[in-house]
Amino acid sequence: MVKINLLLTGTTGLTGTLFLGHLAKTSPSSEVHCLVRPTSDCRPLESLNLNIHYLTGDSAINQTWDTILAKHTPTTIIHIASIRHVPVILDSLKTSKQTPHLIVIGTTGVYSQYNQYSQDYKAIEGQLAQYTGSYCLLRPTMIYGSERDKNLHKLIKFCDRYGFFPVFGAGNCLLQPIHADDLAQAILSALQRPYLQGSYDLSGGSIVTFRELLVLVKKLLGKPVRQVYLPLNLGVWIGTMLENLLGRRSPVRREQILRLQEDKAYSHDAAQKDLDFFPRPLAIGLEQEINLLRGHGVISS
Ligand SMILES: NC(=O)c1ccc[n+]([C@@H]2O[C@H](COP(=O)([O-])OP(=O)(O)OC[C@H]3O[C@@H](n4cnc5c(N)ncnc54)[C@H](OP(=O)(O)O)[C@@H]3O)[C@@H](O)[C@H]2O)c1
Repeated sequence: MVKINLLLTGTTGLTGTLFLGHLAKTSPSSEVHCLVRPTSDCRPLESLNLNIHYLTGDSAINQTWDTILAKHTPTTIIHIASIRHVPVILDSLKTSKQTPHLIVIGTTGVYSQYNQYSQDYKAIEGQLAQYTGSYCLLRPTMIYGSERDKNLHKLIKFCDRYGFFPVFGAGNCLLQPIHADDLAQAILSALQRPYLQGSYDLSGGSIVTFRELLVLVKKLLGKPVRQVYLPLNLGVWIGTMLENLLGRRSPVRREQILRLQEDKAYSHDAAQKDLDFFPRPLAIGLEQEINLLRGHGVISS
């Protein structure tokens, strides 16, 4: 068995890449083991000043974890890939009789009033609470920050191209998106504080309604973005149809439309106190994202 300090998942994604960037700056040349898929694009990690060892597999399946844990004893596992894989990881840890410190990225989706979306997260968090080792669960809100985000870059791109955006329902519900880099910084803070246990909600630096978000995008793009009001039911129907037709390639999901009708602002006071978490205001983060999108030719300059 090889004792290893840090095992990570999700390092080729938006948050994971930024996290490794922070780690490379604060602890240059650190040794890390990254679980990646055979199809993962690891090129963005190659320029980092880290000693990266790649373990290939799928973090959603037992066999991968059983194989890794038969050979390695990690002190800490940072699992960024998906909270849905946690039951499999806990199962393999139990089999291998290992209890590393776990840092898991969850989601504030666990608070959704729509049971069909929150019940899985609640059940998984319940299983994590039974873990005999220590763990720190970080629950981000909607993540934004670059063309790799799943949310705001699509909205910005649409507004830039068409000069309008549909608002399904009243558009009054609250949002508090978190910049991926603030989340990455929070993961590093959690790693540096292994004594911290329990869960932390990680929301962004500003609370806005959906309509205010569109006004902000319009201001930062410097071009008109009309708000086109449409009935909620129509939006749900469109989301459902697109998902049925395109599956995971659908630009919008039924869940996203439905959840636009619920407030998604959550206090990050506990994270501020324990993790030194001071996320940037949305106007700053969005301006950075728009500049990035312009620089990458994703939107017009
Ligand atoms: N996006 C949001 O608004 C949002 C909101 C709340 C919480 N979250 C959670 O926050 C975390 C980070 O989100 P993100 O947007 O930064 O992620 P992301 O860019 O989608 O990256 C996901 C990462 O996980 C890896 N991954 C996914 N499934 C895997 C599997 N079965 N086996 C091994 N690796 C796998 C991906 O590898 P590949 O490179 O091979 O694809 C990638 O490195 C995720 O857990 C997400 O669920 C996201």
